[in-house]
Amino acid sequence: MAGSTAVSSPAYLKATLVASFALLWILVPYVASAKHAGITRHYKFNIKLQNVTRLCKTKSIVTVNGKFPGPRIIAREGDRLLIKVVNHVQNNITLHWHGIRQLRSGWADGPAYITQCPIQTGQSYVYNFTVTGQRGTLFWHAHISWLRATVYGPIVILPKRRASYPFPQPFKEVPIIFGEWWKADTETVINQAMQTGSAPNVSDAYTINGLPGPLYNCSAKDTFKLKVKPGKTYLLRLINAALNNELFFSIANHTLTVVETDAVYVKPFKTQTVLITPGQTTNVLLTTKSKTPNATFLMAARPYVSGPAAFDNSTTTGLVEYEKASVSSNKNKTPLLKPLLPKLNDTNFSFKYNQRIRSLASKKFPAYVPQIVQKHFFFTVGLGIISCSQNQTCPNNTMVVAAINNVSFVLPKTALLQSHFFNRSKGVYTTDFPANPAFKFNYTGTPPNNSMVSNGTKVVVLPFNTTVELVLQDTSIIAAESHPLHLHGFNFFVVGMGFGNFDPKRDTAKYNLVDPAERNTVGVPSGGWVAIRFRADNPGVWFMHCHLEVHTSWGLKMAWVVLDGKKPNQKLPPPPSDLPKC
Ligand code: C2O
Repeated sequence: MAGSTAVSSPAYLKATLVASFALLWILVPYVASAKHAGITRHYKFNIKLQNVTRLCKTKSIVTVNGKFPGPRIIAREGDRLLIKVVNHVQNNITLHWHGIRQLRSGWADGPAYITQCPIQTGQSYVYNFTVTGQRGTLFWHAHISWLRATVYGPIVILPKRRASYPFPQPFKEVPIIFGEWWKADTETVINQAMQTGSAPNVSDAYTINGLPGPLYNCSAKDTFKLKVKPGKTYLLRLINAALNNELFFSIANHTLTVVETDAVYVKPFKTQTVLITPGQTTNVLLTTKSKTPNATFLMAARPYVSGPAAFDNSTTTGLVEYEKASVSSNKNKTPLLKPLLPKLNDTNFSFKYNQRIRSLASKKFPAYVPQIVQKHFFFTVGLGIISCSQNQTCPNNTMVVAAINNVSFVLPKTALLQSHFFNRSKGVYTTDFPANPAFKFNYTGTPPNNSMVSNGTKVVVLPFNTTVELVLQDTSIIAAESHPLHLHGFNFFVVGMGFGNFDPKRDTAKYNLVDPAERNTVGVPSGGWVAIRFRADNPGVWFMHCHLEVHTSWGLKMAWVVLDGKKPNQKLPPPPSDLPKC
């Protein structure tokens, strides 16, 4: 309407003004409510097999809708998501929306035998949840056995309408999801390892958006290309969906600015290299050169490895290609520039990088760090050895396990959340998960002869709204190693980290309670510790585990039961009627 007439008579103007005021009057209540209520978005995820060829070999993989990587979920902060998952494959399946807080919607969280029984062949389940107080990048993945090797995809949470980023609006946004590829069937890989008590075979390649890139056999055509224009800013949504490896990522001759981790804005900082553990996400700004350079730039990711175990030491690469101003320039002549990545075992880089991540802690995006702690926990995390059971075929009669406070967690046969909700925990789980290690030793020194690990399905029970401090202490049993610990249902604040054994007197004094990183996954430093705090304001059963899938398989996992609060809006609603049965 505005600008439609060059010359307006006063009478016309008056009429228009009256009309627009009337319109405003009608619109105001609508606009006000629209600011808070999001929309509902529907997705249909068909779990089905798909033949995919990588590294000269075709195999049949489990996918969502035949896509690898899987489809992108896009929502705005405040939106409700209804994702109908239909299982057309022989495997049992569940999906997890990694990093989504699932406030009072624990039934939609997804870890198999924790919040739900798996969706069986021919069955379906609608994951129903609202995205509250989060914006940025997360991802979804299968959460049963090793199926997440091929079943994963990005979750993009845009700010609310009319809300903007606390950094310059990017010209374009591009998800970059890292994965890990095995030529063999990954279910066979992990099943054999569990049967024999030995470590599973390492992957054959890492991938960028499902593509290994030119450093691997037969893969030149399977290369991710990021086409860019000069003088623009791109938002790269980095996701590490690899199973067993933390990754360094860098782009030749370009600096990256980290602006968000795990769907929480951070104080922007510049870096040549990003370190990202499985389960973590990182948004970075990439500002392109002001003029089209006469070069093509490699982006590369390869592992950060802190332990002695065998690992896939290959490198995945993709290309950053500037749009050519003229078609005449000869592509063959442009040099290909490669990034310099840190050494594979660069624990110092890892430590320093993680210390740079700070919450924005602004008025608009405050950091609600619990200042007073009601419950303290000290968990050792690491490996151990136990005797094999009768139905295994172990060469030495022993097998490697992984444990928290010497408990190697065993998944129950039915889901914990149902058992808890219907007060039927007997025979399913016990509430005696130890708050401290059963016996003290020099955790990062010479390990004891007997690691005293036992199996169990033990949980910690927390009253609603408890403020928790949890120190995660790496051990050197078998070997020290970085463990990316992931907590479902909450974000936590990383208030401190260090090397060696945690010392409550010395180390608590140095906590950052002002602007610590707020995340859902944190790497416990190899041979060190990390202290996190969170408020148990979300009733339900919440899984916590190492996001290195091999360690999860070995038992480095446990669960928190958070009780209902007194108010109606502090209670977990009953399960949806289509919740799968075991
Ligand atoms: Cu991304 Cu329990 O996992």
